[in-house]
Amino acid sequence: SLLGIDIGTSGCKALLIDATGAVLASRTETYGLSQPHPGWTEQDPRLWIDGARAAVAGVLALRPDVEVGAIGLSGQMHGLTPLDAEHRVLRPAILWNDQRNGAECADITTRAGGIEGLLRHTNNRMLVGYTGGKILWMRNHEPELFGRLRHVLNPKDYLRFVLTGELATEVSDASGTGLFDPRRRAWAAGLLDLMEIDAALLPPCHESHVVSGRVSRSGSVLFGLKAGIPVVGGGGDSVIQTIGSGVIAPGELQTTIGTAGILAAALDEPVENPDGRLQVFCNVAPDKWHCMGVSLNAGGAVEWLRALLAGFADGAVPTAEQIAALAEKAPVGARGLLFLPYLNGERCPHPDPSARGGFVGLTTRHGAEEMARSVMEGVTHSLFDIFALMEKAGIGRTLIKASGGGARSVLWRQMQADLFGCDVVTTEGAAEGGAFGAALVAGVGIGVWPDADEAARACRAVTREAPDAAAGDAMRSAFEVYRGLYDALSPSFA
Ligand code: XUL
Repeated sequence: SLLGIDIGTSGCKALLIDATGAVLASRTETYGLSQPHPGWTEQDPRLWIDGARAAVAGVLALRPDVEVGAIGLSGQMHGLTPLDAEHRVLRPAILWNDQRNGAECADITTRAGGIEGLLRHTNNRMLVGYTGGKILWMRNHEPELFGRLRHVLNPKDYLRFVLTGELATEVSDASGTGLFDPRRRAWAAGLLDLMEIDAALLPPCHESHVVSGRVSRSGSVLFGLKAGIPVVGGGGDSVIQTIGSGVIAPGELQTTIGTAGILAAALDEPVENPDGRLQVFCNVAPDKWHCMGVSLNAGGAVEWLRALLAGFADGAVPTAEQIAALAEKAPVGARGLLFLPYLNGERCPHPDPSARGGFVGLTTRHGAEEMARSVMEGVTHSLFDIFALMEKAGIGRTLIKASGGGARSVLWRQMQADLFGCDVVTTEGAAEGGAFGAALVAGVGIGVWPDADEAARACRAVTREAPDAAAGDAMRSAFEVYRGLYDALSPSFA
């Protein structure tokens, strides 16, 4: 069997699959994160190791009959895990959603000669979440600790170190540091020079399916796994979950509706990233790239509506299913009511932390039903708005593979089918997230599947929604109005 381990933000998942891609056992151990100042998010890497030990022990106890043939690692991206010369953790990891280093990102962009210059080095902007700005933040704010810094790892790569003793990363997570050129699949040495950062801080970088190490003696004792089991590179969670949804062929799109929304595609070529609005990374397949846009407001907008409606119903919080049932009573297009989902600012397609949400077009004939529908449609519009950027870069749409909590809603899947004008499927294993993709990549690493395309075929479709032509026309004419609203309203965003 194949073991996938995902170091998430709220917990660690371990998962066993067999050579057909069927899930044999899955176990999640949760942990917390600390917010020592507003906008800061940190995690002690010990939590990841303890969480992984408990989750692995849990799946091995559920399936004592199976032998683990290979291990794949997945994890939250962009987290700075700083080690000293003796490989001791210097300070808590600074996570992907930490907001402290805006000044350092601006400094890096200036050093690179502006956004255009930066795109020449990495084909991506230096977002506040990325690792690059965090290294400079340590240099500026914690000079004593920075003086002892010898190794910078991503979260899952710290687990690799504890498990195997190897300091290594792979191309997808390396892309998310902002210090890597995904086109050349190599560290961006020129940018590191401009930042005056020693390239030796960064670990060797492999392709994702390559065996990067083997379970060591101490790893064996800690995790209850046999010494010598191969550990492949794996991938950053939002990249590796695309193969876990079976998204690998041109034209296939993955939508993920969690708190945030993600639209992602696998590419045969690294596309140009005009103005750096998309994130263009290496895929876990060695001859492919990954393109995604992240909207900060998806399932989170429905969460907001649930809490709002609870205020009118004596505190009983309606479920997401009840919101969808309400939405279903309103017609497609919500009788002309549009919702802008930017409740927490936005990342893509509008990189604007001060963007604000809103209902536009309200009249007395609109009630809770139209408002519920327009919130769900607005989130779907925001994903299609990301697609409009991808389409300019030459990315097509033939099939959507839906994932995340929002994929449980038939109505939301139907909205996607109608607006995008293609079938929407959900696939087996996708709900397991990065751990499932990591187990598939482990299988590629030891030859269970010859390549990522074959591994992706193990993700069988379990539901399918087809587009309705009339609903699609109504959704797309509403979208034409929606896409003009950001520019029209942005002067009013305080
Ligand atoms: C990707 C991103 C998140 C993290 C957390 O750019 O910020 O998906 O990887 O899981």
